Amino acid sequence: MKKIFFLVVVSIIATFVFGQKSSIPHLEKNGNTTRLIVQGKPFLILGGELHNSSTSGAAYMRPLWDQMKRKNLNTVIAAVYWEMVEPQEGKFDFTLIDSMIYGARKSDLHLVILWFGTWKNGYSMYVPGWVKNNTTRYPRAKNKDGESFQMISALSNAAMKADANAFKMLMKHIRTIDEKFQTVITVQIENEMGIFGPPRDYSDDANQAFNNQVPDDLLKYLSANKAKLQPEIDSAWKANGNKTSGTWEEVFGKSTYDGKNWQALSYLPEELFTVYHYAKFTGTVAAAGKEAYPLPMYVNAWIKQPGMGYPGKYPAGGPIPHTLDIWHAVAPAIDFISPDIYVSQKDARYTIEQYHRPGNPVFIPEFRPGPQSASEAFWVYGQHDAICFSPFGIDQTKPEDDPITKTYAVLSQVTDLILQNQGKGTMVGIYVDSSEKVQTFQLNGYTVKAELMGGSLAELAGYAPRTKPVTMAGGIVIAMGPDEFIIVGKDFSLSMVPLENDPAKPLLDVEYLDEGTFNNGKWITTRRLNGDEGTGGGDYGFGFSNNKTAVMRFQKNANGDCSIIRYKIYKYK
Ligand code: DGJ
Repeated sequence: MKKIFFLVVVSIIATFVFGQKSSIPHLEKNGNTTRLIVQGKPFLILGGELHNSSTSGAAYMRPLWDQMKRKNLNTVIAAVYWEMVEPQEGKFDFTLIDSMIYGARKSDLHLVILWFGTWKNGYSMYVPGWVKNNTTRYPRAKNKDGESFQMISALSNAAMKADANAFKMLMKHIRTIDEKFQTVITVQIENEMGIFGPPRDYSDDANQAFNNQVPDDLLKYLSANKAKLQPEIDSAWKANGNKTSGTWEEVFGKSTYDGKNWQALSYLPEELFTVYHYAKFTGTVAAAGKEAYPLPMYVNAWIKQPGMGYPGKYPAGGPIPHTLDIWHAVAPAIDFISPDIYVSQKDARYTIEQYHRPGNPVFIPEFRPGPQSASEAFWVYGQHDAICFSPFGIDQTKPEDDPITKTYAVLSQVTDLILQNQGKGTMVGIYVDSSEKVQTFQLNGYTVKAELMGGSLAELAGYAPRTKPVTMAGGIVIAMGPDEFIIVGKDFSLSMVPLENDPAKPLLDVEYLDEGTFNNGKWITTRRLNGDEGTGGGDYGFGFSNNKTAVMRFQKNANGDCSIIRYKIYKYK
């Protein structure tokens, strides 16, 4: 009896201790996917990033939280500035972060905070005055002629320590006021770091380090992970004999430059060297912050893209996906690397695919705001198991004018469903537009063709108002069981053909077709769609071609909302 009592007490204490620990927001592996856990439950960030200066004044930011809530965000991404947190060395002021946290919390919003520390878009623009004015203690990166750049050198240990100290104090403060509430759920370290111009720093320290041996920590990582290195680093290392010692050029080869192909890895050894130092620096800052409060932490990139295809054109030293192994090797406190995306859909797709690698979940802190983002959000959650999507400058537009408001209105109903289907092969994200009108895939025993929807028959016949031609659409398709689907979105159609033709039941029809909502994860049917809105209408609902291809079309509604549709197909003879 005594023994049982003892075991019960031990298990209560253990639950309390470990339960407390695991209740801090953290990342959790789930098969091939990574999920963010908040208040003990998987959480999908429906985000938006505020303009850079929006959180620099308490009164200015006060009305923003309500505006963000009305945009159906669940998380706001917002900056905290070193210059305002530590205006004098060793004197800290947390008034602004307090305003942010209390304001967001009151509106039932979470926060991802951006630590604008040593670098913002390459430059050292947010460091306090006492850092700016002391170039002896905090030296700048230099060009080949020995002239200073504005940005502090990533090889500056003094800057790294000062930044790490300020960040640690910030995280300690956040833990004190927020651990219980978990308003702050993730932290970005610096912002789009790197050097513009040359692919590396040419200060004396940097020259010496570049011509010296590749540091042991990186070489050891390469040897220990030989079988699972990313292809870009693996092939550069292999092509130069898998050396376990040598200079950067001996280990990774001499630089090449290909001005015609933006995807080529121009100036690779210099870039890896530069990334190594930025990763060491930011990894140290992140580790200091995690000592105080170990929230998930990441770094973001000004991405490699057409017209900016080599390091120096995009900031050299930033977290570009072909450098991921370096981040893993020397910055273990950085949990993942992220892209900021302001490019065409074709290049956005390529970028997201590049960042979605083993050990690196998709988390997009910045995406070009506007209609593209409203369709893209569906695609990244449905197709790439993204933890976060977030249009930039989210406070620029009113909720009623921003297309993301309608996207998040529907996505916020299905976040649990999305999380449950991640990594299972039961969910597909859709993005179609006027240049790529069709997306084809296999799901749940069907070949499915998603297509941008044209005008409806009713519009052509004149009894429905003519709408503007649709130029892009996004959505998610989820397999709920044999022949049963949920689709979320608008403005696209799905043509579905069974992968295998069953001669005993070669024909298709719809068993049921419902429109509905999710309330706290529970499906609620709002309408049974049939007749004009089902198989009888021809415009929306179900159509069949030869009774062998089922075609599902979203019904348009007057205010352009997205819908959630649930249906089941049956087969007959
Ligand atoms: C990318 C930066 O990371 C943001 O802070 C902001 O400056 C945007 N560019 C502006 O487009």
